[in-house]
Amino acid sequence: MSNADIYHEMIIDYSRNPINYGKIEDHDVTFHDSNPLCGDSIDIDMKIDGDKVSDIKFHGKGCAICMACSSVLTEIAKGKNIKDVRNISKTDVLGELGLENLQAVRIKCALLSLKVLKSALYSYLGKHLEDSSDVDKLKEEAASLY
Ligand code: FES
Repeated sequence: MSNADIYHEMIIDYSRNPINYGKIEDHDVTFHDSNPLCGDSIDIDMKIDGDKVSDIKFHGKGCAICMACSSVLTEIAKGKNIKDVRNISKTDVLGELGLENLQAVRIKCALLSLKVLKSALYSYLGKHLEDSSDVDKLKEEAASLY
C-alpha cells in the first residue's frame, strides 16, 4: 500500500468516525465559520483552564477532507497551552494527512477548521488580555490562511 493510499484511507476513516466531534456545553469560547464555496460549516468549542486548552470539540458539516482535518487539528490542539495552539500552522495540519500538495480549490476544505480555531483564540484572547495588539496578528493570520 502506498503512502497516498494510507493517507486516503485515513481521510475516509476520519470522515466516517470523526475524533473530538460534538459540543462542549460549558465552553469558554466558541466560534463558527463556513466555506463560502460549498456552504459547509464548522463550529469549534474550547474549554480553557489557565493557559491550557483542556478540551476542544468541533461540529458541523463538511466534506471528507474538512472532517478529517478538523479531527486532526483538534487532536493536535487538545491539552496544549495556548501559545502552542496559536502556533499550529497549516503545514502541521496538511502534513498529518499528506495533503501538502492539495489543489487550491480544496485548501479551503482542509483549512476551514484551522481558520475557526485561530478566530476562536483571537476572540478568547481579545477578551482576556489587556493589550490586544499582539492578538490582532492572530486575526490577520486567520483571515489570510487561504
Ligand atoms: Fe465543503 Fe469541502 S466541499 S468543506
